[in-house]
Amino acid sequence: MLHINSAGGGVTVQAPAKINLTLRVLARRPDGYHALESVVAGVSLYDGLRVEPDGDLRLVCRGMDVPTGADNLVLKAARALRERCGLKAGARLVLEKRIPPGRGLGGGSSDAAAALVALNDLWGCGLGRPALAAVGASVGSDVPLFFGPSMAVMRGRGEEVEPLEARFGWHVVLAWPAYTMPTVDVYGAYDRLGNQGGGGVTATAILEHLAGPARDAASFLVNDLEWAADSIRDGRFDVRACLLEAGAEAVGMTGSGSAYFAVADTEAEARNWADAVEAAGVKTYVAVLHSEGTDRQENPT
Ligand code: C5P
Repeated sequence: MLHINSAGGGVTVQAPAKINLTLRVLARRPDGYHALESVVAGVSLYDGLRVEPDGDLRLVCRGMDVPTGADNLVLKAARALRERCGLKAGARLVLEKRIPPGRGLGGGSSDAAAALVALNDLWGCGLGRPALAAVGASVGSDVPLFFGPSMAVMRGRGEEVEPLEARFGWHVVLAWPAYTMPTVDVYGAYDRLGNQGGGGVTATAILEHLAGPARDAASFLVNDLEWAADSIRDGRFDVRACLLEAGAEAVGMTGSGSAYFAVADTEAEARNWADAVEAAGVKTYVAVLHSEGTDRQENPT
């Protein structure tokens, strides 16, 4: 999913957002994590990460206000790679943030994967993608996903990634409210409520539908965490209802929320829905879903 460029003594990586087309929670594991099966696709909304040589390890963030302290996944990834390779090297990391954090769009995990790829290059670590993905798994469950192709099934706690080959040309409206959804809280609510979702959709069944019209996706965009997220949304803005009111038919929640997405056959349709929900105060981005063969670097504005 990552696009890499080496130029001018540094390395730049475009780190895409992802959406979970489906997310099924299979069981609570003894380690406290949840066993999942989730069909995930990359979308054309990117953070940009540039790394340059430096004596210290430091992170600068532009575009959106995100904490740049030691807990930032980019710095955690950098430290994990240094440890893995027994290095003391430094770097200046400049993160151009466009993917809103805390919305289930995977921006932090994608940034961490981007940092591993870029620093592997800058520091001459010589690790291959599988080794980098293993370092990524120690940083966060979703990080290994971004080392694979644009579409995949995630299993285990998310770190087992099986590539999927699918072709489809859908457009997607990403829509997110002002509030965030802490993943830990959503899983906590899931444990209290139990699985109230429809489940039952397998990854293979979904692949058969991907060539059809976008509205047919309404039957399989199932996310077992949506009840849990709804329960702690606590009356705050209902993004799903807003997208449906705007005319969208196939709407899903990504990750543990708070972002939703709607799939459309045409860009014009997607833009109409986006304009309608923006008027209601929801932020949006109209993107394309990637599939093999259409994975291209776009120039996000
Ligand atoms: O792995 P990561 O740090 O991204 O996970 C954040 C939190 O989300 C975990 O501490 C856990 O509470 C929850 N989680 C889970 N099951 C998963 C992934 C995450 O319970 N498969």
